[in-house]
Amino acid sequence: MQTDSSFTFVLFGGTGDLSMRKILPALFEAHRAGGMLAASGKIVAVARHVADRGGYLEWVDTHVKPYVSKNGLDETAWASFLERIEFVKLDLGNPEDFALLRDAVSDLPGIRVFYLATGPSLFVPICRALASVGLNENARIVLEKPLGYDLKSSNAINDAVGEIFAEEQIYRIDHYLGKEPVQNLLALRFGNALFEPLWRREWVESIQITIAEELGVEARGDFYDNTGALRDMVQNHLLQLLSIVAMEPPHSMDSDSVRDEKLRVLRALKPIDQRDISKVAVRGQYHSGVIRGATVPAYATEPGVKPESTTETFVALKVEIENWRWAGVPFFLRTGKRLADRVAEIVVNFRPVPHSALGASALRAGANRLVIRLQPNETIRLYCLAKQPGEGMNLASVHLDLAFDRFFREGQMEAYQRLLLDVINGRLALFVRRDEQEAAWRWVEPILNEWAASNKPPKPYASGTWGPAAASAMLAQHGTCWLEEEN
Ligand code: BG6
Repeated sequence: MQTDSSFTFVLFGGTGDLSMRKILPALFEAHRAGGMLAASGKIVAVARHVADRGGYLEWVDTHVKPYVSKNGLDETAWASFLERIEFVKLDLGNPEDFALLRDAVSDLPGIRVFYLATGPSLFVPICRALASVGLNENARIVLEKPLGYDLKSSNAINDAVGEIFAEEQIYRIDHYLGKEPVQNLLALRFGNALFEPLWRREWVESIQITIAEELGVEARGDFYDNTGALRDMVQNHLLQLLSIVAMEPPHSMDSDSVRDEKLRVLRALKPIDQRDISKVAVRGQYHSGVIRGATVPAYATEPGVKPESTTETFVALKVEIENWRWAGVPFFLRTGKRLADRVAEIVVNFRPVPHSALGASALRAGANRLVIRLQPNETIRLYCLAKQPGEGMNLASVHLDLAFDRFFREGQMEAYQRLLLDVINGRLALFVRRDEQEAAWRWVEPILNEWAASNKPPKPYASGTWGPAAASAMLAQHGTCWLEEEN
């Protein structure tokens, strides 16, 4: 991917956690790979607590280097990467400081990208301050999730930002859309004639989408306690995955064709009746437990978390899509922290054969199943039944495996790297459009409201397990179970 499109990448929150772990490492990787970033492109970091460029480069050297040197650091590339970085000391509370920023970038070439790696409460003040010094022209703005707290607050941000930037200038990041395996899902579905005819209610019994984490809330207790898993993971990552799994084939891969189809799915989600919430939604909170041999603390004792907190760290949902392709097929979504494993996967359970001349085992649920593992170890596994060798006709479950790292040994790209290159090159397909975001908020809102009003706390689960038993009971009502419960 050669490029000569120059850019000035302005990074607000330049000393924040996200800049340190994701954004600067991704830019470095694109720089190191050669040819992905225009040689003249500049990074202008903005921060308050650092005195000058020298101080900032020292910070980058100390804090960012550990995240880029996993496979041995290319020192020459690192040194030339640092040359791309400029710095502006700016107090966001001080609008006059934006004149300094304007002066700093006025002679720099190319499109301007403003990446707001800050809390959402700063999005609007930053955009207004940028506009006040004319920096909203020839520019793109990148907004990190969470964008707002609910539909109302996200609309307020979108309205205010929309007065300053046109929708085509706004890049709302959901890093799951940048993941290689998520891209591959599009290739699998729309590049092969094999699966598409079966990808519908006539052949599919149920679908599970899980994003499970072993990590707890880490140092983000403060943020997380006001957010919870529904806002942090479901409203965005899980609903985005669901929309890609369930969407109709787009007319082309241009940004609006793909996003139009995802939007149709989000708008077709069966609204959740407030009275049914306890039947279709389970919320949990982790207690202490053991993960990989180590005892980990309960959520309520994590730094920054209120001891009496009722914030959920686990969510399981039954979702239905009201359209011809999916009517009646349950989609089970699940995410949680401090679970038994770190895994993100999609499980498509096909219906059994309509009649079996081979005995009852051919009729069992899950005989044909496609498991798309997104992380770790991207693989696609197709389960079938086969005859066991020997006398008689006994069937056993076998599987075909596609491990991507056997086919593609090189060229994997981190989500942030792909997304940042897309912003710089003006490709919007992998960013969330405002209407998609609104549809997702609108759908989750009854659950948010019900949980906020409820006096029932989330169900406890021990760290290192798969969450509260109620999540299994919800599937049992539909005659199915989570994949790990199969054996
Ligand atoms: C982020 C959430 O968006 O995604 C985090 O805020 C979560 O809480 C993370 O840990 C998971 O992303 P990944 O790429 O590690 O699966």
